[in-house]
Amino acid sequence: MKTTFMNVSRRVIGALAVLLGISSCQSSQSEMTFEQEGDSLTVIHITNPTRYLLLPIEEQTPEAQVCVASDSVPVEMDVRLSRAKVDYFVPYALPEGEKKVAVRIRHLPKDALCWKELKLSDTFDTANTDKYRPVYHHTPLYGWMNDANGLVYKDGEYHLFYQYNPYGSMWGNMHWGHSVSKDLVHWEHLEPALARDTLGHIFSGSSVVDNANTAGYGAGTIVSFYTSASDKNGQIQCMAYSTDNGRTFTKYEKNPILTPFDGLKDFRDPKVFWYAPDQKWVMVVSADKEMRFYSSLNLKDWTYMSGWGEGYGVQPSQFECPDMVELPVDGDPNHKKWALIVNVNPGCYFGGSATQYFIGDFDGEKFVCDNKPETVKWLDWGKDHYATVCFSNTGDRTIAVPWMSNWQYANIVPTRQFRSANALPRELSLYTQDGDIYMAAAPVEETKSLRKESREIPAFEVADAYHVDSLLADNRGAYEIELELAAGSAEIMGLKLFNEKGENVDIYISLPEKKLVMDRTKSGIVDFGKDSAPHAIEAHDRRKQNSINYVDDFALGTWAPVKKADSYKLDIFVDKCSVEIFLNGGKIAMTNLIFPTTPYNQMSFYSRGGVFKVSQCKVYRL
Ligand code: FRU
Repeated sequence: MKTTFMNVSRRVIGALAVLLGISSCQSSQSEMTFEQEGDSLTVIHITNPTRYLLLPIEEQTPEAQVCVASDSVPVEMDVRLSRAKVDYFVPYALPEGEKKVAVRIRHLPKDALCWKELKLSDTFDTANTDKYRPVYHHTPLYGWMNDANGLVYKDGEYHLFYQYNPYGSMWGNMHWGHSVSKDLVHWEHLEPALARDTLGHIFSGSSVVDNANTAGYGAGTIVSFYTSASDKNGQIQCMAYSTDNGRTFTKYEKNPILTPFDGLKDFRDPKVFWYAPDQKWVMVVSADKEMRFYSSLNLKDWTYMSGWGEGYGVQPSQFECPDMVELPVDGDPNHKKWALIVNVNPGCYFGGSATQYFIGDFDGEKFVCDNKPETVKWLDWGKDHYATVCFSNTGDRTIAVPWMSNWQYANIVPTRQFRSANALPRELSLYTQDGDIYMAAAPVEETKSLRKESREIPAFEVADAYHVDSLLADNRGAYEIELELAAGSAEIMGLKLFNEKGENVDIYISLPEKKLVMDRTKSGIVDFGKDSAPHAIEAHDRRKQNSINYVDDFALGTWAPVKKADSYKLDIFVDKCSVEIFLNGGKIAMTNLIFPTTPYNQMSFYSRGGVFKVSQCKVYRL
């Protein structure tokens, strides 16, 4: 490939000709000409456009605005185009089948490095370059991801849509990214399903399969609901549908389908489900500090029914990403209860964002909670479990997918090519304990299909310390440890996973305190926020955080209450940048990010105040 610069006219600041591959034929020559208009607008004229314009990104710069000027309705994307250095490139798709295309860039200084680094290309390399990319957790190929959206199962495929920024690994330009899986643990990446448009960002929402053709697009259509968010229009609910199993979507021409009756600013994340007793659809929308319930017969016209939640759960908190599921209690199909999942930000015990749930009854119009407002029930006791919602159309199964991060630091964690992964999909169920009803979240059964070779360590007693030199040969940092601990005289039953540098995660049950703890204080890189740029903070401010101390807020231990028992079963999943613990089949789940500089490959059990027994210890490579 050869590049040349030339002057074309007085207003044109330069031209970049790119000869593509076997370019003996003149017509395949692609050329960029830069035209400066005033101080803050540059138009790039591209002749014989390639598939992509590769945009150089510098994360710690303000955003510039990029759009295809020749589009009938140009939609500007906010992109942190390089001014002084290039952190990575992202592809910007150019219209196909055109001889000439004009791309408009606003708010990028004339001397920005970007002008030299822009590239035309027919390909974009998505090979992994990130040492923290998980081995078995879902992540986007590149770019930013937050909440799981529109989860739906249809014709043997699980569709995972997600909040996605294809133009950089920080929050912005919300699209619905799209991946599909047949087994919930191996994912195929598809093109984004819904792109930011003139109504705004495509915020979170849900999907249903319209089996009875209530919306009129045909039986079996996937109908999706999302919030369009913009400064101009506020937060309004919109609809899109797909008649080809999610491969393409059409946005409803009369969007929005629902706006807040009181002009509420925070009104988003519609969850739609079928309420069989009344043969109607129900939509739950998070409305600042409460949830609002609407009903519809055709998925297009919605009627307000009720509001619930003000003053319930942790206070103060902002409600986001609702879900509502009806589940048998203790597996009894004759005793069912409704669980309203409410993600709150901030409000997490340990700072930032977390997932609560409320158990109660729903009569098709109103939710009534079993507990007093001050009762708080957490679906996960770690710090990196948020925006958890469930698949629709899964029959008797209720499968939830969390976003594995926290708004306090999601934008600045030490990954680059991508930011954020989903935690393992979890099967939800209800159980009773001490006369109250709680929700368990266990890793889905399909997770077992990830297991490769295993290693069993025969039962042993821990009087003081018991050291296992190497967990796995050639450890890539992705494994599962199944443990059964038989309580003896010990007060503390502990396990440290660590690497040769001593970086570790310390997991222990303290019986006097009745706590299960996961301490990541010395887990590896924990102070990544200390020199984070104002622009990183700006991106995360936009998601409504106040001041935080990144170091203290990341380097911490999280804990969950445990009851005294004879034995405890722990299932611990470790991946390149996460540890998930499931205690006793998911009655307690705890999800935390970690950034060790090399994988933890050793473990040491320790006891305090007496002896306990490890009656089962199995390590699986995943
Ligand atoms: C939750 C959330 C949602 C919103 C989305 C925007 O993490 O704030 O309420 O729809 O993220 O990306």
